[in-house]
Amino acid sequence: MLSKNIEKLLQDQVKKEASSSQTYLSMACWADVKGYNGAADFLYAHSDEERMHMLKLVKFLNERGSQATISELKAPKKDFGSLKEVFESILEHEVKVTESINNIITACLKENDHLTNNFMQWYISEQMEEEQLARSIIDKLEMIGSDTSSLYLFDRELGTSMQQHHQ
Ligand code: FEO
Repeated sequence: MLSKNIEKLLQDQVKKEASSSQTYLSMACWADVKGYNGAADFLYAHSDEERMHMLKLVKFLNERGSQATISELKAPKKDFGSLKEVFESILEHEVKVTESINNIITACLKENDHLTNNFMQWYISEQMEEEQLARSIIDKLEMIGSDTSSLYLFDRELGTSMQQHHQ
């Protein structure tokens, strides 16, 4: 059985992952209509990944004697100034998610909940990867600046890198 405190933290995390999925879906829509097809594919796939993160937590809660709560979500932002702004908000968002996962692990250590701690380790490595990826995309977008032909090529590259990642 999960302690009340750990259960609450995991339930909150379900909501955060669901909301990440919605956020990336909204970004994907923006990219799609702006003609950034590669970025749109990347973001649609990222949205699916977040749903998978959520589902893993949902199943963990259900298997550990609790019942996952599926909550109402706030509508995500739908307008962005640039592709760089999209990835900057992704990074900002992921840094907060990492913080929240760290908090869960700290609570698990305090309460000697080794099982949940072990389960959450997967999320920590995932966060490291996601933060790194967002940082490297922002760096590239910074280099590209207002060079539209480089931006066009980079957008295509984003779409292909996503396909490779999912093979
Ligand atoms: Fe599920 Fe991007 O954190």
